[in-house]
Amino acid sequence: MCSAIAVNAPVGVMDSGVGGLSVLQHLTHQLPHEHFIYFADSAHAPYGNKTATEIQQRCFTIADTLIGHGAKALVVACNTATAAAIGPMRERYTLPIIGMEPAVKPAAAASKNGIIGVLATTGTLKSAQFAALLEHYGQGVQVLTQACVGLVECIEQGQLDTPQTLALLQQYCQPLMAAGADTIVLGCTHYPFVKKHIQEIVGPEVTLIDTGAAVAKRLHQVLAQKQMLNVATEAGDFVFLNSGTKETQRVMQALWSKPI
Ligand code: DGL
Repeated sequence: MCSAIAVNAPVGVMDSGVGGLSVLQHLTHQLPHEHFIYFADSAHAPYGNKTATEIQQRCFTIADTLIGHGAKALVVACNTATAAAIGPMRERYTLPIIGMEPAVKPAAAASKNGIIGVLATTGTLKSAQFAALLEHYGQGVQVLTQACVGLVECIEQGQLDTPQTLALLQQYCQPLMAAGADTIVLGCTHYPFVKKHIQEIVGPEVTLIDTGAAVAKRLHQVLAQKQMLNVATEAGDFVFLNSGTKETQRVMQALWSKPI
């Protein structure tokens, strides 16, 4: 099935909104010759407070759209959507699908005092997938979880530096700092866009970990294994789709460094 797809077909990348652009930055850096088509489901963000069934339906709709645009592989650039939908997606589609989950394993390895914090959506933290992740990689360390309700909405509105966003970040980082976390996982793809503020709040001695680079490495491995890497020597193209309003498109443009 995969061999029928041209190697110069695009890779489809999806998120509940603009957060997955933080992953796309790593994808383009590690795979500069690939074409990408990015779908921001901003009309339906946030996913973090939706049921797994609702998220699965959105993921099917978006995957159908990306496959309709010729995608040769999909990257679910969203921890919440991965937790809710990656299993059903892999049952439904035959193309390679790369998901992502909070970086508990690297955080546990990086922590010196054995206390790690995980900032993520309610949906991710409540999922069976996350429970399994803790079971596998959270042994021997203390894992503190913090749901960041309202933060994705701020970032979707392009409010990276407003008093409201800073107050939420303060509120959510404070319990992790009080408990002595020396390593904090950014368990939602929207959060790297406020990483600078998180680092300022927690201090330079605390290590922040996100998963974008690991996802890009995994995509590279999978495409190489399946002989699906684009062999072109020129830089790949981008197509951006957004289910939201002109305003969310403006935010997407502001977060992406080059013209869309
Ligand atoms: N960017 C997302 C994640 O990685 C989803 C956030 C949301 O829509 O709640 O979890």
